[in-house]
Amino acid sequence: MATTVKTPDTTVDLAKAFAESGIGEVLDQLERELVGLGPVKARIREIAALLLVDKLRRDLGLTSETPTLHMSFTGNPGTGKTTVALRMADILHRLGYIRSNHLISVTRDDLVGQYIGHTAPKTKEILKKAMGGVLFIDEAYYLYRPENERDYGQEAIEILLQVMENRREDLVVILAGYADRMERFFASNPGFRSRIAHHVEFPDYAPEELMAIAELMLARQNYRFSDDARDAFRRYIATRMQQPHFANARSIRNALDRARLRQAVRLFQSRDRLLTADDLMTIDAGEILASRVFSGGAGSRAAAERHP
Ligand SMILES: Nc1ncnc2c1ncn2[C@@H]1O[C@H](COP(=O)(O)OP(=O)(O)O)[C@@H](O)[C@H]1O
Ligand SMILES: [Mg+2]
Repeated sequence: MATTVKTPDTTVDLAKAFAESGIGEVLDQLERELVGLGPVKARIREIAALLLVDKLRRDLGLTSETPTLHMSFTGNPGTGKTTVALRMADILHRLGYIRSNHLISVTRDDLVGQYIGHTAPKTKEILKKAMGGVLFIDEAYYLYRPENERDYGQEAIEILLQVMENRREDLVVILAGYADRMERFFASNPGFRSRIAHHVEFPDYAPEELMAIAELMLARQNYRFSDDARDAFRRYIATRMQQPHFANARSIRNALDRARLRQAVRLFQSRDRLLTADDLMTIDAGEILASRVFSGGAGSRAAAERHP
């Protein structure tokens, strides 16, 4: 394939291209919006740098291939995979790798039908919606059910593999889920592994990161902990982490939703007095300590997490 390489002294202004792309804003937003996740943020910056350089190389005719952009995001629930995928879509869009800044998030049920002949139209319908943007497949490994010999997931897999190869300029696929299950999925479906350019691993959060996430989530909604509530929430985190169905930052968000509800009930019960902005903003220790996490009922805790 002939490429039209410019004279060797043709220059490109990488700093200008970076500034014009606006991806710096997205990287800043990622930095502001997500506590911790150092390795993930570093990977995203690396991928962004690669994509920017690749774009300049294509502008100069040094390459004409559409790079493979499909990715896997692995980590436990609530570690920020969906949030980062949205920012990744933004970066891909700003650099011109996808036509529109949209991400369609699906699971097996959105792609696989119940009856013979249903899967292909279902998968194609989703692909049509995602085309030009990002298709985010959560818990992608559920597409593959080897224990079920005639599983319709296989049909979806074949269509996806084909599109991932042939429509690379129109669609970026991000597969997300638990690291170990994804690894087994790739081992049985090497076609997927070979089409994935970037693997990003999302670590679990440390207790102090979960605390910082809680404070950030509250501040964004103009709430804050009282000093006692802060201490109580530290204990909440330590206890909740040991219980079933713990889901990192998602568990924190759910816990704060319930604390806000209890705060509202408390304020309502004292409606005979005037409330200050401070009253309306402050979460008290009682709102944290009322959680079932402290009553030892791990089973009921898990049920509450599923139906917050
Ligand atoms: N590092 C973080 N800092 C602040 N909030 C976070 C962080 N990670 C996740 N969250 C929040 O936790 C919730 C769950 O995150 P999400 O991206 O849906 O995780 P996943 O897709 O891995 O399950 C979202 O509300 C998200 O904004
Ligand atoms: Mg998610």
